[in-house]
Amino acid sequence: MERTIGFGIIGCGTIAPWHADSVARIEGARLVAVSDVVEEAARKMGQKYQANWYTDYQKILEREDVDVVCVLTPSGMRKEIVLKAAEAGKHVVVEKPIEVTLERIDQMIGACEQAGVKLAVIFQNRFLPGPRRVKEAMEEGKLGKPILGDAYIKWYRTQQYYDSGGWRGTWRYDGGGALMNQSIHTIDLLLWIMGPVHSVSAKMATLAHKIEVEDLAVATLRFASGALGVIEGSTALYPGFASRLEIHGENGSLILKGEQVVAWELKDGEQIPLPFPPQKAAAGGQADPTKISAEGHYLQLKDMVEAVRANREPLVNGKEGRKAVELIRA
Ligand SMILES: NC(=O)c1ccc[n+]([C@@H]2O[C@H](COP(=O)([O-])OP(=O)(O)OC[C@H]3O[C@@H](n4cnc5c(N)ncnc54)[C@H](O)[C@@H]3O)[C@@H](O)[C@H]2O)c1
Repeated sequence: MERTIGFGIIGCGTIAPWHADSVARIEGARLVAVSDVVEEAARKMGQKYQANWYTDYQKILEREDVDVVCVLTPSGMRKEIVLKAAEAGKHVVVEKPIEVTLERIDQMIGACEQAGVKLAVIFQNRFLPGPRRVKEAMEEGKLGKPILGDAYIKWYRTQQYYDSGGWRGTWRYDGGGALMNQSIHTIDLLLWIMGPVHSVSAKMATLAHKIEVEDLAVATLRFASGALGVIEGSTALYPGFASRLEIHGENGSLILKGEQVVAWELKDGEQIPLPFPPQKAAAGGQADPTKISAEGHYLQLKDMVEAVRANREPLVNGKEGRKAVELIRA
C-alpha cells in the first residue's frame, strides 16, 4: 500500500478551506496540521478538520508526518516561510501569485531546487476542462499561427474587501492591485496558451477605491510569436463580469467566458457542443472572492500528490508560476 502523503497548512484565512477540503478528497492524502499567527483562526481550522494546530508554523516543519506544506499567507509574506520549509525538506504549494517580486520568487525557486523539494503554484483554472480544451487546440495546431490573444477581466471588489485585511491593496504585501491579485488567473491562462510576451506597454489608474495600488489597468502586448494582444484588468467595474479570454489564430477563434468555452469557430468546420463544459462548477469570483470553484484546487493538489509519488515536477511549478508575475511587473 502506498504511504499517506501528509499535508500542513500555513495561513488559515479565506482560501485555506479550499486546500483543506481538497486534501480531504484525495485518496492517500491527509491534513495533519495547520497554523496561523492568529490563535483563533488556527484553532477553528484545526478543530473543523481534526488536525493539530499551532500558532508557530515551525512546529509544522518539525513534524515527520508532514510531506507537503501549503503556504497560504498573504502574497508578500511567503518567501521566508518557503525558504524554511525547503530547508526542512518539505515540498511546497503556494497560492497565486507565487510572491510579489522577481527577486523574492527567484530565491524561493532556488531554495526549493537546492533542497530537492517540489514547488507548486496554485493556478487552479489550468486544471479545468474549458481552459484545457483551448490549450490543447492551440498545441494541436487547430488555430494555426496565433494572431491575437486578449484577456478581459472586468471584476468588482468593494472598498470593504480591501479594508478586510491590512495587506490587501498594498504594494508590499499584495504586490499590486487588480492585475497582481485578481486578473493574474486569466493572465496566466493567456501566457499558457499564447506563449511568452516579447514586449508590453500599459497604463494604470486607481479610480474607484482608496488603495495605493491600481484598480484598473490596460496593456498592449506583442507575443514572441509575433501575435498581438490586449489585457484589461479591473476590480472597479460594478457588478463584475465573467472574465473573457479571446484567442484568435489564422484558422479561427476560441473564446472562454469564465472557465467555459463559449465560441469555437474554426475554418475547418470542426464543432464542439457549446458551452463546454455544459455546467460550470461555480461562479468565477468576478464579484466575490469566496465564490470560486472547488474543483480546480482539488485537481491541482491531486497533481501535487502524484508529482511527489512519481518524483516528477508538478504541472505548475515555480518557473511556470513566475511567468504571470514577470509580465505584470513589466
Ligand atoms: N487561488 C485563488 O483563487 C485564491 C483566492 C483567494 C486568495 N488567494 C491567495 O491566497 C493568499 C491568501 O489570501 P486570503 O484571502 O486567504 O488572505 P487572508 O488574509 O484571509 O488569510 C491569510 C492568513 O495568513 C495568516 N498569516 C499571516 N502570516 C502568517 C504566518 N507567519 N504564519 C501563519 N499564518 C500567517 C493570517 O493571520 C491570515 O489568517 C493570497 O496570496 C491570495 O492571493 C487565492
